[in-house]
Amino acid sequence: NGRINIAIDGPAGAGKSTIARKVAGKLSYVYVDTGAMYRAATWSMLQQGISSEDVDQVLQAVNNLEIELVPGENGQQVLVGGVDVTEEIRSLAVNAKVSRYAQIEGLRSRLVSLQQQMALRKGVVMDGRDIGTTVLPDAEVKIFMTASIEERALRRYKEMKEQSDITLKQLELDIAERDRLDQERMISPLRQAEDAILLDTTHMSIDEVAEFIVSRALSIQ
Ligand code: C5P
Repeated sequence: NGRINIAIDGPAGAGKSTIARKVAGKLSYVYVDTGAMYRAATWSMLQQGISSEDVDQVLQAVNNLEIELVPGENGQQVLVGGVDVTEEIRSLAVNAKVSRYAQIEGLRSRLVSLQQQMALRKGVVMDGRDIGTTVLPDAEVKIFMTASIEERALRRYKEMKEQSDITLKQLELDIAERDRLDQERMISPLRQAEDAILLDTTHMSIDEVAEFIVSRALSIQ
């Protein structure tokens, strides 16, 4: 059995999670959404009233943090200390703060080691910001997925329209700010691994992108 690991990185709203889930489905692999883990950690900190400025408190809380990703009826369920927070982690409050908590080294190292454990047996499609560079530097297929900021904001807008009255312009600003924080941070910033394939999906359909990745994987595994 030649199962491999697939790393998908890129900025917010590039379509990573949709594609990663699809690719995992086609290959019967496990999908790991690492953004959901940073979101879950952020949700928990906000719930406990711990500011991202208070690094000592964050690190203490991280020690007791229990995050689980479990396959559910509508895709992946996210549990924090056994509580289902799948919906809550997509809130605007979490959006606004997640990139701040994601800068904290001790929080990252804890989540990175969890992610590495999940990929030990191979057959994983993992999406995030630092998968190809830091979490799975030996992944057999690495993709760096981008799209124009307008297209990315529009995709998120369509996703969120039902649950909030955020405007397209606001979303564009929100995404641009997260990109900036993710690219400029000291530890594991968002960047393309040297051996990653760059895919600009602005004018590609979901199926085209998924097919591309699946055929790369099949040619190797
Ligand atoms: O992928 P998603 O947009 O849900 O990720 C939310 C945030 O989590 C990102 O903006 C980034 O700050 C952080 N993140 C990260 N490293 C990852 C995945 C997500 O720092 N591997």
